[in-house]
Amino acid sequence: MDTNIVWHKPTVTRKRRANNNGHNSVILWFTGLSGAGKSTIAHALEERLYQLGANTYVLDGDNVRHGLCNDLGFSDEDRNENIRRIGELAKLFIDAGVIALTAFISPFRADRQKARDLVADGDFIEIYVKCPLEVCETRDPKGLYKKARAGLIKAYTGISSPYEEPETPEIIVDTSINNIDQCVELIVNHLIHKGIIKSAPIPEQKATY
Ligand code: ADX
Repeated sequence: MDTNIVWHKPTVTRKRRANNNGHNSVILWFTGLSGAGKSTIAHALEERLYQLGANTYVLDGDNVRHGLCNDLGFSDEDRNENIRRIGELAKLFIDAGVIALTAFISPFRADRQKARDLVADGDFIEIYVKCPLEVCETRDPKGLYKKARAGLIKAYTGISSPYEEPETPEIIVDTSINNIDQCVELIVNHLIHKGIIKSAPIPEQKATY
């Protein structure tokens, strides 16, 4: 970094934004195999938080790789850089008062730790979206496991590239056991418990007259 760069202190701080928003900001870092359900849960959770009036944004692997990270592939080095950029981006989002949901395989523990270390304790909630490889492979929503097995994609996570399970994630959701709503509720309850959002009304119930 150039040494002639001086940090400018804003008057509109994260704290003031949180006051205005009526909720705190945090990084919800989803990690897990492709097909485990990271994006599905992140978007379902975002929908729920949106309905509660929260400011949110989902950073999604496949989408971000179309723009900000379209120069990166799937070598270990490129995945390191992918996660480094997402960590920095998510850090800016929480400074902007937004609940940032990141849905990336982020297969390497060291990379996830680096992203965690960019922010203060409590600002990074790691959510392990657990699902056995066999189940992800059966789902194969994009047909990529089939291609990877056929040797058409190299370094595919879970097949020819490793996935390092989180050792002490804040939350584990198992999508081979629980449905999407159950996973979402578990995370919402955690956010309430940690004081990030205020207690949430029970999701829309039909009136009975
Ligand atoms: S990460 O490893 O760098 O975190 P990221 O989450 O951005 O990966 O992208 C994963 C998505 O890219 C997968 O859901 C899948 O659709 C696609 N993909 C394409 N090639 C690969 C590969 N070799 N390994 C894993 N995912 C791949």
